[in-house]
Amino acid sequence: MLAKQLCKKGILGIAYETVEGADGSFPLLKPMSQVAGRLAIQLGAYFLQSQYGGSGVLLGGIPGTMPGHVVVIGAGNSGAHSVQMAVGVGARVTVLDLDTRKLEALDTEYRGRVVTLMSNPANIEHAVADADLLVGAVLIPAAKAPIVVSAKMVAQMRPGSVIVDIAIDQGGCIETIHPTSHEKPVYQMHGVNHYAVPNMPALVGRTSTMGLTQATEPYLAMMVQKGVERALAEHKGLAKGVNTRGGRIVYDEVAKAVGFDRA
Ligand SMILES: NC(=O)c1ccc[n+]([C@@H]2O[C@H](COP(=O)([O-])OP(=O)(O)OC[C@H]3O[C@@H](n4cnc5c(N)ncnc54)[C@H](O)[C@@H]3O)[C@@H](O)[C@H]2O)c1
Repeated sequence: MLAKQLCKKGILGIAYETVEGADGSFPLLKPMSQVAGRLAIQLGAYFLQSQYGGSGVLLGGIPGTMPGHVVVIGAGNSGAHSVQMAVGVGARVTVLDLDTRKLEALDTEYRGRVVTLMSNPANIEHAVADADLLVGAVLIPAAKAPIVVSAKMVAQMRPGSVIVDIAIDQGGCIETIHPTSHEKPVYQMHGVNHYAVPNMPALVGRTSTMGLTQATEPYLAMMVQKGVERALAEHKGLAKGVNTRGGRIVYDEVAKAVGFDRA
């Protein structure tokens, strides 16, 4: 196992996913969430097409027809980017979150063009029943994703609708979801296309690499200029990224997850 080798060889291992910004955010995860959020709409539109078992709805519609309804649960990094793309293609958009500040920001940005709703079972059930494309984008830091959409709600969706569960890398937030692969990205359940690839950014490696490199470059420059030890001592957020050191796993949650703290 990779973690064992890092310990065995005494490697100082800095994990992108635990480097923290001053506000407690995860700056090196952000670009990948942005990519996944934007891709969710592109992929959802694709799997709404009839030849993939989709309902045959064009998200933007055409004049004189109803546009498709995109429902996004979670208005964080990925969810906000799904909202932006869905608005861009002309869909009707509803977004739900528990954090009122996130909803207020989207309400201000889109001036009524997007419906913002508090995330609770009644609002979710109502929105999901009318969704052509449902995007799952919730995250509880360092925890498994909560199930916010039940199998019963999925069964109430129109046949040929699509679910893209971005949160699949944390277990997914839809009861009927299980991970899929780039080779076989969708399966149908209750007549609904389910997409749940845990590594969506790999589909657009060029953009993903550019985004990730931009985010990591300042940290690398700091380590080159100051030396690794001084950079870690002076930058608490970068120090939070240290997962292995001196033959041990020094990040408690990671040690718990892999089940050991030294090789
Ligand atoms: N599949 C992929 O390829 C891929 C790529 C990047 C990120 N991700 C995953 O996407 C998920 C979302 O990441 P993010 O960066 O957008 O996280 P984020 O922290 O920026 O946003 C998550 C949002 O979920 C909200 N939330 C929490 N519980 C909720 C609930 N019960 N109902 C509604 N909203 C709720 C939070 O308030 C927050 O606004 C994570 O699991 C992340 O690992 C997956």
